[in-house]
Amino acid sequence: MRQSPKKSHPHESAHLHVSGEAVYVDDIAEVNGTLYAALGLSERPHALIKSMDLSAVEAAEDVVAVLTAKDISGENECGPIVQDDPILADGLVQFVGQPMFVVVAKNYMAARRASVLAKVEYEDLPAIMTPQEAKLQGSFVVPPMQLVRGEPEKKLKDSPHRSKGTFYVGGQEQFYLEGQISYAIPKEDNGMLVYCSTQHPTEMQHLVAHSTKRDFNQVLIETRRMGGGFGGKESQSGLFACVAAICADYLKCSVKIRLDRDDDFMATGKRHCFYYEYDVGFDEDGRILAAKVEMVLRSGFSTDLSPPVATRAVCHFDNAYYLSDVEIHAMCGKTNTQSNTAFRGFGGPQGAIVIENIIDNIARDLGKDALEIRKANFYGNAERNVTPYGQTVEDNVIHELVAELEETSDYVARRAEIKAYNETSPILKKGLALTPVKFGISFNVVHFNQAGALVHIYTDGSILVNHGGTEMGQGLNTKVAQVVALVLGVDLSRVRATATDTSKVVNTSATAASSGTDLNGKAAENAAAQIKQRFAEYIAHKWGGDIQDVLFENDTVSLDKQSIPFTELVVEAYENRIQLWSDGFYKTPKLNWDKDKLQGRPFFYFAYGAAVSEVIVDTLTGEMKLLRADLLHDAGNPINTAIDIGQVEGAFIQGMGWLTTEDLWWNPKGKLMTHAPSTYKIPAVNDCPDDLRVKLFHNPNHEDTILRSKAVGEPPLLLGFSVFFAIRDAIASVADYKINPPLDAPATPENIMNAISAITDIVDDTDTNSGAKS
Ligand code: MTE
Ligand code: HPA
Ligand code: MOS
Repeated sequence: MRQSPKKSHPHESAHLHVSGEAVYVDDIAEVNGTLYAALGLSERPHALIKSMDLSAVEAAEDVVAVLTAKDISGENECGPIVQDDPILADGLVQFVGQPMFVVVAKNYMAARRASVLAKVEYEDLPAIMTPQEAKLQGSFVVPPMQLVRGEPEKKLKDSPHRSKGTFYVGGQEQFYLEGQISYAIPKEDNGMLVYCSTQHPTEMQHLVAHSTKRDFNQVLIETRRMGGGFGGKESQSGLFACVAAICADYLKCSVKIRLDRDDDFMATGKRHCFYYEYDVGFDEDGRILAAKVEMVLRSGFSTDLSPPVATRAVCHFDNAYYLSDVEIHAMCGKTNTQSNTAFRGFGGPQGAIVIENIIDNIARDLGKDALEIRKANFYGNAERNVTPYGQTVEDNVIHELVAELEETSDYVARRAEIKAYNETSPILKKGLALTPVKFGISFNVVHFNQAGALVHIYTDGSILVNHGGTEMGQGLNTKVAQVVALVLGVDLSRVRATATDTSKVVNTSATAASSGTDLNGKAAENAAAQIKQRFAEYIAHKWGGDIQDVLFENDTVSLDKQSIPFTELVVEAYENRIQLWSDGFYKTPKLNWDKDKLQGRPFFYFAYGAAVSEVIVDTLTGEMKLLRADLLHDAGNPINTAIDIGQVEGAFIQGMGWLTTEDLWWNPKGKLMTHAPSTYKIPAVNDCPDDLRVKLFHNPNHEDTILRSKAVGEPPLLLGFSVFFAIRDAIASVADYKINPPLDAPATPENIMNAISAITDIVDDTDTNSGAKS
């Protein structure tokens, strides 16, 4: 039987994950004499360092060395785009938690204990904490960007209805279970091996080379797997790779740095929080006639990946909706906080949620169901199908997908039931929402959309595949191995994926933008296909026949009536001096992007999805529970259904966490106070709904992607929107669905209570004024 690409195979490391045998960086057997590094962190949000007395740190038990910026032999820099990211602060600190020095000790605890013994004299400077303040003060890491189409100003004035307001969504900590970690081992002749938990081994190679004055060919980064990355290890693993390598270089011995969870929270960037001001015009049917939005991101103290994050936000303001006349501004506010970075969705979720909030408001303004307004604004198929950035939406399935979900989730009937329930339930209120997703797939930097792979076949018929992508739990290695097995017609058990290694496939892009399988799967397919072609030529020549007629199936290669087991063919091919390995390469076609004009085709295609969430809210405590969620997501022709469903579920719950319980709070002194699971609440098992129905939408990619699949890593995070808008619906019931609840994200119990009292106050005032209430 032909191995179906849709078959659900277990994750390639599942048996190792569950038995505890999977090796993460901290599990790698240590070289004798390994030392441990810990960071000394700034206690001020913005200050000059007047003096740093490190004598107590140096004198602490088991301490071997203390390094500061001046001990870095190469560049003191780890920024991915702009050079404004010092590895160790040099005279100036720009956020509470910024690394100022490294202490290296004989054991992990000694290093950590010593790291808090420095006596630092600061001269405080004014600090900017919020995006709103950054905007007021014109404090930006890069100049503001804007995208205008049509005549938004004029169309706004001509609109029969207007909706104007502000909105805010908080940031989010990646909370990978394995924290940031790097282990550097000096090798002969100035070689440096770094085991690093990173999504971007090549970037780590470059940063380590620059900071330790080496050529790229002297640095080898190896990543077998991460215990989660979620974007947090796209650029920001760099500081730790550099610290480990700098110390290893300085001391000529192996050094490991593993961050404690609190230090990880304090030192590394998160999802950007966004502050929005918007003004939209719409007609009686709720169709948007013009939209203006200004988004201000909290970039933190340095540029990091904020510009492409802002760009993705700009390119997702439309979400699934056609906006004829539109004006979008994005500003990367420079603040005295951690430098915010990639997080699943990469600005896409922040771009799209504001239009969903706007539509939610329009619906209440018109007294209509929000789903009706959503449908009225969806992209069309033949017309109304060009995005504000000039890309034609050619693969739109949002109408069919939403129609299917509306039906299967029983949306209409449940809407009525919930209304009836709320009428008789004074304290507990239910809410329902259906939200759609359209998410652009490809890096919005065109040249990142390339990948390489190596496929080796050994003479026993076993196969090794290596590619430039990294495994962070998302199942990339499993899918790539499936592709290789499929091309060669062999059982998956023959194929083994190996650690990502900068000395194998070179000049790789980050495993990010959900494009890991799209890029590396195609590169591996290309490599395997070359070997297959050599086999086919050999067989066709040997048995006489057409190359095209040679079949590779069930571990057997056949032509007409003759066949040979794959393992025997491999040996024969070797003896006939046929190359049994190949490289492979892929670059995504059709892309073009002008990053200054924000015009072109940044995305190869779009992934679609929709979710219906039903929540119950306690209006006396602000507590919320998700009762049921129905998710329908477009993963194209899935390579591995089980893995894709896992991605959809995980992303949805992570999106829900972002919008409900995950609250980042800095105290007035600029210190992040929610820096551990005790104060920062990610969703747990009991936050998942009892009734969770997840389905993949059948929709082979109309572009020629790997096995016609679609990227699935990030898009379903936006399905979590439905929980937020269901909460808003429940709150609105308190005022008979007539007032738009002033609810920002995350919808914590506190924010829910504030929104309830705000609309209750309005109702009370109105009642008093009209004399309806005595
Ligand atoms: N799934 C797991 N289990 N762990 C992760 O860290 N990261 C997400 C997503 N799914 C992540 C995950 C992010 S941010 C991205 S960009 C993609 O996986 C990256 O992998 P892919 O491109 O191979 O899908
Ligand atoms: N996603 C993740 N990383 C990136 C992107 C993106 O869209 N663009 C540039 N770096
Ligand atoms: Mo994902 S945010 O592109 O690493």
